Amino acid sequence: MTDDEQTRHQAGTTDDEQTRHQAGTTDDDVTLAEFTDLMRAQESGAGILATLADAVRHPRPDLPIVDLGCGTGLGTLRLAGSFPHHRMVAVEKSAAMRAVLFSRIAYDESLRQRITVLPGDLFTADLPGVWGAAVAVHLVCQLAPAQRADLWRLLAGHLAPGAPAVVDRHYGSTATMRVEERLACRTTVGDCTYERWFACAPADHESITYTDTYRVLRHGRILDERSVSRRSWIATEDDVIAEAGQAGLTVAWTTGEFLALTVEEGRLTHPGAGG
Ligand SMILES: C[S@@+](CC[C@H](N)C(=O)[O-])C[C@H]1O[C@@H](n2cnc3c(N)ncnc32)[C@H](O)[C@@H]1O
Repeated sequence: MTDDEQTRHQAGTTDDEQTRHQAGTTDDDVTLAEFTDLMRAQESGAGILATLADAVRHPRPDLPIVDLGCGTGLGTLRLAGSFPHHRMVAVEKSAAMRAVLFSRIAYDESLRQRITVLPGDLFTADLPGVWGAAVAVHLVCQLAPAQRADLWRLLAGHLAPGAPAVVDRHYGSTATMRVEERLACRTTVGDCTYERWFACAPADHESITYTDTYRVLRHGRILDERSVSRRSWIATEDDVIAEAGQAGLTVAWTTGEFLALTVEEGRLTHPGAGG
């Protein structure tokens, strides 16, 4: 394996996937973008996003809130609604996901003025210098250990004093987790029924491979069926806190669903972050 292949392998992508990622989207992204909100709408308050703003508490008023890996932007909009005087920057590598986000923003003048959507990789995007808060929801489990360390460094390098970085506490269960395919969610729109079937199996000692199969039925007949397999990296909360600590982040508070990190006093690494 060449160095380049090794890097991509560690990032959990194949040659083909890498090429398609550079183009901004994959067929798998399109499938996820199509069905994510349909399924999430079945969870009360859109699942953990219902309490995201509470977990952010008091973002610094004069500085942007940054949503890393914003997906279809449901969390971005929740925060924009809860903090109506803040600017936001939402970064997302998948064009399909961004398309859904744009459909939420496009017809609302206030959102259009306040939310900047950045395409591409969050690790190389042209993000603002100092952040009033950051959120990364359902992102940590998508990052290989080396990328997680990059995430903590990114946060430590941009958060203003006292500003929180909020990550969800669903880091992944265990690397031995195996679930036979089961129906995870079912909903209807018009006279079509939409199902998500979920299965997962260990990939190696630090990750699992999970498969979501989306099925569209009408009058009992399958109209469409697509599967997306992804890798999910396992970490415990202790791992996350220790890794973040190495980058100069410390736990500020936790809620049932979220962990808020701030930069340790005396560890600010960027100019202009004071006050
Ligand atoms: C599981 S989704 C969660 C989306 C959103 N935060 C939410 O909770 O609804 C994770 C998102 O992060 C994006 N993502 C993962 N790695 C990324 C990276 N390096 N740069 C930008 N986006 C990334 C994925 O494309 C995906 O849309």
